[in-house]
Amino acid sequence: MEILKINKLTKHYGKLTAVDKLELSIDKGSIYGILGPNGSGKTTTLGMILNVIRPSSGSFTWFADSDLNVNRQKIGAIIETPIFYPYLSGQKNLEIFCKIKKIGYADIDRVLNIVELYERRKDAFKTYSLGMKQRLAIAGALLGEPEVLILDEPTNGLDPQGIAEIRNLIINIAKNGITIILASHLLDEVQKVCSHVMILKKGKKLIAGRVDDILREPDIFEVKVEETEKLRELILNNSDLNLIQEHQGLFVFSYKEHSNGKDLNQFLIENGLVASHLQKQEKSLESYFLNIIEHA
Ligand SMILES: Nc1ncnc2c1ncn2[C@@H]1O[C@H](COP(=O)(O)OP(=O)(O)OP(=O)(O)O)[C@@H](O)[C@H]1O
Ligand SMILES: [Mg+2]
Repeated sequence: MEILKINKLTKHYGKLTAVDKLELSIDKGSIYGILGPNGSGKTTTLGMILNVIRPSSGSFTWFADSDLNVNRQKIGAIIETPIFYPYLSGQKNLEIFCKIKKIGYADIDRVLNIVELYERRKDAFKTYSLGMKQRLAIAGALLGEPEVLILDEPTNGLDPQGIAEIRNLIINIAKNGITIILASHLLDEVQKVCSHVMILKKGKKLIAGRVDDILREPDIFEVKVEETEKLRELILNNSDLNLIQEHQGLFVFSYKEHSNGKDLNQFLIENGLVASHLQKQEKSLESYFLNIIEHA
């Protein structure tokens, strides 16, 4: 079932186009990552679908329904750091959230248990660690049992343990059928948490789909040959090979999945090329991602 449909959504700030004719469809139950470097339009996109930022043009539809007021209650979100009262307990802070959301306090225990803060509920907010504060924010967003949870850079500023806790929490929340939309500039975060991803650059969608399909580990090689022109042509004309970089006679390109240097060497020889240098690159996904962003 389609939860959100975005249609040519655009936001201009003066001459700057922060979000450019964005098209996207998000299905129920997915953990959808919006991945892109700083300033690529992630927060602006989330702001628009939450009715906090007014689009310049385009549209979006939640739950295949046009009634925005009913819809809003089904969406929990953290796009800016929520304001908590430092001297009040986690519990009391959530009671204030309930008042704002116009719901009873009955849901508080449930959300405190989900984020594993029930034991600490009576302690003052200011005594919480950064990770606990972030978890309380997620608890606040979960009050009222929303169908969708929207998070903007949920692990910003956390240490590795805090990051792992938030990641597990997000995965657990999604297991209960809640659709999650998550903006992040961290490839690693999206790869570990999300089922789907859209990659944004300068407000434009570069690619979108299942994480398994898009962020799969391609095998990347660096190769040197005498006949550079011939290799360049081979790469351009063969869909198994995707050029990433060519610098001073060194070609960096991706080759078929699960291939090794021997396979590639064989392939080059079959095509009349002798490599004077052939090496498989480590950390290929990171460079692949950076390449998508750089050369798009
Ligand atoms: N209120 C505003 N007025 C003018 N320009 C803005 C405003 N808000 C955002 N922008 C610009 O729009 C572009 C997209 O910003 P946005 O905050 O959506 O990016 P982002 O992907 O969330 O970045 P980050 O990873 O740094 O959070 C940027 O160039 C930014 O400077
Ligand atoms: Mg942002």
